[in-house]
Amino acid sequence: MDDKPSLKSITLKNLTSFLMLLTLIVLVLLAVNFRSISIKIVEDKALAISEVVKAGITAHMKGGIMDHRDYFLNEIGSLTLVNDVSIVRSHEVNAQFGKGRHFEKEIDHITKQAFESKQPVFLIKDIQLQPYMRAIVPFIASSKGELNCLQCHQVEEGTVLGALDLKMDLTEYRATTIKLLLAIGIITTLFIVLIIANNFRTIQRYIQEPLHRLIKQGEEAYYSNIPINTNLYECKEFEEVAQEINHFTKDVLQTKSIIEKKNVQLAELALEIEGAHKETVFTMGVIEEHRSQETKNHTIRVTKYSHLLGQGAGLSEEDIDLLTTAAPLHDIGKLGIPDTILLKPGTLSDQEFTVMKTHTTIGYNMLSHSKGETLQAATIIAHQHHERWDGSGYPQGLVGEDIHIFARIIALVDVYDALSTKRIYKKAWSQEETLTHIQQESGQHFDPQLVDILISCRNKLTRIKQKYHE
Ligand SMILES: [Fe+2]
Ligand SMILES: [Fe+2]
Repeated sequence: MDDKPSLKSITLKNLTSFLMLLTLIVLVLLAVNFRSISIKIVEDKALAISEVVKAGITAHMKGGIMDHRDYFLNEIGSLTLVNDVSIVRSHEVNAQFGKGRHFEKEIDHITKQAFESKQPVFLIKDIQLQPYMRAIVPFIASSKGELNCLQCHQVEEGTVLGALDLKMDLTEYRATTIKLLLAIGIITTLFIVLIIANNFRTIQRYIQEPLHRLIKQGEEAYYSNIPINTNLYECKEFEEVAQEINHFTKDVLQTKSIIEKKNVQLAELALEIEGAHKETVFTMGVIEEHRSQETKNHTIRVTKYSHLLGQGAGLSEEDIDLLTTAAPLHDIGKLGIPDTILLKPGTLSDQEFTVMKTHTTIGYNMLSHSKGETLQAATIIAHQHHERWDGSGYPQGLVGEDIHIFARIIALVDVYDALSTKRIYKKAWSQEETLTHIQQESGQHFDPQLVDILISCRNKLTRIKQKYHE
């Protein structure tokens, strides 16, 4: 995002290249035009000088003072803009009067061009250090007007008598052109700078500042529920955007409020469902407890003891919750054992005991269809709570930590409660007797670590037993 150009830099780039190109075109057009105008002025001056020279020479001729014309031509040569002045005489004039003296040149190819065309020829050399223009203006014999050439010259009307060869200085005109272009260039550059500065100011004031304000106020509108003050925006477009944001924010906040209320309702409902679920599971355990004619409150004590051991074993809050919710179902499989065996007061025969042991797999089959976390935990507990640490348990003969921690805990607290409470076939053992027996079974029937935790919790075990007595 940081690599992207800002609005100002895009404007600067586009505007500068456009205006520079425009300036260049204007300067080229001006240069071309100004050159043409300058050259035309110098050409006109050359023609005017040629008229004066023609009249001057004729006057000298008429006055019979041709030998003094050098003074005259010398003065012409010293005029501003005139670098050099020469006369070129035609062969006819040379034939009549002989060759001239000073200020006279031979006919060259450019002069010849003027003689043949009978028109002035201008040769411009302005792309060099000393710029100049050579102007060859032919003099044509004419009997018309005040200067009747044919009075002196024995030639036909329209014959070229000669030409004036002027070398005009273009330095000043070229310098003026350059100065003018320079001035226009500087003024245009200043204008470009002013235009860009003005654009920057406009962007800053009418786009960037309102945009930042809009973002800030848009956030406030959402988090503090303060609508954007649309009057703060000078442009119609920003005012419309601000209004749209206000409408949108209002809708979003209303929807958010509805969703929040629904979420609270859903959370309450979820708690209710969870409570009902736990109650149902517990009731199933109590039903089984009644059917098996278990000691009163066996289910709740086993649940409380397992909570204690779960904490001691360092289980997470979620796992302890799962364990205690599922614990009441550890003997649910007994619902599938016939009364004659389940409720038999005396010792079971081997065959009866084999049937009795199937309550683990019956429990597993009753619960394993469930995808719910609680019943999955209950499935494991129902299936494995008669496994023994040394592998001599049933139904799978699992060893050590292959037995799920939930089942290891239930196995321990189930036996603890059975021994420490009265049964049809035995009296209640004291806590000392019970713990001594369990200690002896540590590493054989029970997980030794859990046995240590159980023993360390003896006082809490007593309090639970007193609270939920038989
Ligand atoms: Fe059992
Ligand atoms: Fe039990």
